[in-house]
Amino acid sequence: MKSPKSISRSEFLNQVGALGTVAALTQPALAKSRPVPDTPPGTVDRKIRLAVIGCGSVSNMYLPHLSKSPYVELVSTCDIIPERAQKAASKYNIPNHYPHIDQLLAGAPFDLLVNLTNMQEHGRLNKQALLAGKHIWSEKPMANNYREGRELLELAQKKQLRIWGAPAVVMSPQFAFMAQAIKAGKLGKVSAAHAHYGHLGPTWSAFFYEKGGGSLPDLGVYNLATLTGLLGPARSVMAMTSIVTPTRKTDNKGDVPVEAEDNAMVLIDHGNGTLSHVQCGFNYFDPYGHEGTGQEKPTITVWGTQGNLALIGYDWAPFGVDLATAADEKGQRYVTDPSDYRWEMGASVIAEHIALGKEPLIQAEHALHVLEIIEAARTSGQTGKRVKLQSSFRWPLV
Ligand SMILES: NC(=O)c1ccc[n+]([C@@H]2O[C@H](COP(=O)([O-])OP(=O)(O)OC[C@H]3O[C@@H](n4cnc5c(N)ncnc54)[C@H](O)[C@@H]3O)[C@@H](O)[C@H]2O)c1
Repeated sequence: MKSPKSISRSEFLNQVGALGTVAALTQPALAKSRPVPDTPPGTVDRKIRLAVIGCGSVSNMYLPHLSKSPYVELVSTCDIIPERAQKAASKYNIPNHYPHIDQLLAGAPFDLLVNLTNMQEHGRLNKQALLAGKHIWSEKPMANNYREGRELLELAQKKQLRIWGAPAVVMSPQFAFMAQAIKAGKLGKVSAAHAHYGHLGPTWSAFFYEKGGGSLPDLGVYNLATLTGLLGPARSVMAMTSIVTPTRKTDNKGDVPVEAEDNAMVLIDHGNGTLSHVQCGFNYFDPYGHEGTGQEKPTITVWGTQGNLALIGYDWAPFGVDLATAADEKGQRYVTDPSDYRWEMGASVIAEHIALGKEPLIQAEHALHVLEIIEAARTSGQTGKRVKLQSSFRWPLV
């Protein structure tokens, strides 16, 4: 294969698409990579052209990160509230802004769509963009149900394109430390794990509480990605879900009835005897605030016959990992430096990996597996039955 440096952008993106097809069909051991150190701006000869759709709350985290990436050329913004698209374009010097996806796709050419819209819109918009020949980075969930997600992945493969979905938790150095400790046998035989994430719920948009929203795809998704990333794909799931607060006051729609679960408990069987538990909800008071700054207690714990691990802070913004083993019973804290990891880095990481022709640690199949767990948890919650899963992903990650 020619060096990526010697090929045009369209040739290169075609090759990346072909790589993705082969990867998904045959699951080869593609190079697993960490983000490369920042290259000074001006030295990168292949920038990936990006369009951002959905210029609401989370775009205020994504756009500053994307605008600093030497691998990214921000081409367009889009929002059905046109002033949001216009404001974001003007703030980050982005040349084009559009009020609708049809105009975005027919407008200035770009390579990668970054989808930051309401959760319920993801499947539809991702499909439309794939059909128009765009690669996708989607905020979670990448589709509204497992079947739709599977179809999106198949569509991407057919069109020699790629689609990836948030979260980016597997990129953190704390995740890498925990995964390596488990792989090195420091915990002995891993038996059990727990993860939790919650807050008092978003106020700015009603979609979090409407059908297709809920605490599982908004919050539990991080813990599910972390625990399956550490312990392996889930074989089956049992869960209970509930609605604790039946009505919410929201900025955009006033009082709305809560239709999706705002409280969830999920039990996961990872096979080989390893069981884990995830709890999430929109009714969790946390004296340390949303980011848990200053938090000393773990939100993720993993136990084995010879040791245990505890991740301090949330998995999307961790502060360190405590490891105690039979050989070091008092234990120590490790990896207190987040390095260049940021939870909002997913789209920048994908652009960088496309530009460099490398396969990222984040896998579409992992996001799809987490989506299947969420669906299975809801089914289990309704039926009281244990639900077997079909999907899997390349594991171990690290
Ligand atoms: N807000 C956060 O801190 C945060 C953090 C991580 C992930 N997320 C995820 O990011 C996504 C967006 O969340 P948010 O908090 O930014 O919501 P938001 O309501 O603040 O923003 C969503 C934006 O998408 C726009 N939009 C909706 N449908 C559209 C369409 N069809 N075409 C174009 N624009 C459309 C809305 O007008 C709005 O401006 C969700 O999937 C959420 O789970 C949010």
